Amino acid sequence: MTNLTILDLPPTKADLLDLESAPSAAEMKAYATENNILILAHSYQDGEIQDSAHIVGDSLELARAASELDAPNICFCGVHFMAETAKILNPESNVFMPDPEAGCSLAEGCKAEDLEQYQAFLQKKLGRDDLVTICYINTTAAVKALCDYVCTSGNSLEVIDAIPADSPILFVPDVHLGGWVKEQRPDRDIHLWDTACIVHELFSIETLLDLKHQYPDAITLAHPECPKNIRTESDYVRGTAGMLRIVKEAHGKQFIVATEGNMIYRLKTEAPDNEYIAAPGASCACNLCPHMQRTTVDKLWHSLRTKQFEITVPDDVAKAARVSVDRMLAIKPKRETVVRD
Ligand code: 13P
Ligand code: SF4
Repeated sequence: MTNLTILDLPPTKADLLDLESAPSAAEMKAYATENNILILAHSYQDGEIQDSAHIVGDSLELARAASELDAPNICFCGVHFMAETAKILNPESNVFMPDPEAGCSLAEGCKAEDLEQYQAFLQKKLGRDDLVTICYINTTAAVKALCDYVCTSGNSLEVIDAIPADSPILFVPDVHLGGWVKEQRPDRDIHLWDTACIVHELFSIETLLDLKHQYPDAITLAHPECPKNIRTESDYVRGTAGMLRIVKEAHGKQFIVATEGNMIYRLKTEAPDNEYIAAPGASCACNLCPHMQRTTVDKLWHSLRTKQFEITVPDDVAKAARVSVDRMLAIKPKRETVVRD
């Protein structure tokens, strides 16, 4: 068996298509607008894809956009769980993805049947019937359907704070985001699932320390999906939208950024007068998510013209998952003052 690195995922059905070359980002966006298609793209998508999109955002912003904009057709450039969330919020819309096999290691690491068993085990072990399960948005619709609340990297603490102070909490599936949440709320009884993001897990602490030495004035930003050693060496731990807020308030500063590599494009686009240094991973110098990279401009162009590949969620699953997504969306976002951690 060959030794797969994180960049060596097997080809998908969309990879095997004979695709026409895509026109420019502006032409694709104009085509989508003319054909009543809303293009949503996550900040981890390639720069040209971000430029083609009507809205670029983090998981929370894209979920909010999907719930607020009444779009008949949504082309989702991101990974499968994100498009599923858009479908849950827009059951009447045709939601499609350029490559529906774009997955996520976090979503894959938490199967609905395993979660159901663990919830029963933990309730019994704690002797409590008021266990509250929070799932990170990076989960399948079937997992969301088993949870009380969904959260994103941008609102995990607000979701925790919305739960009665004495209720035990099961936080799934990201052990690092969950670990960070536990550090921020030490008085809460929080139990963690044990899976991680293959991109953030691989940041090298040695290289980060070298970079900090090389750029002594740089401010280090780390995503909460990073392990504790990376978070501890960072000035700010924030989701992608939080990072964006920080760099927009700075001018002429240097930032070392420990998150998926394409985020640098977004930061440069929104706050061009800072310098950004991408923290490299242990095995991949660029830190690109292989799942996010499944979406290419040629696949996007094919998707816009054919309205493929459609994302569906069974009605009963969508209905149950919507309850936990809506609970999250009902929590008012706090206005963040940017204070160093
Ligand atoms: P956010 O967009 O919530 O920061 O999430 C990062 C991520 O890994 C999405 O897959
Ligand atoms: Fe999943 Fe990590 Fe890729 Fe985000 S960056 S989609 S969490 S594997």
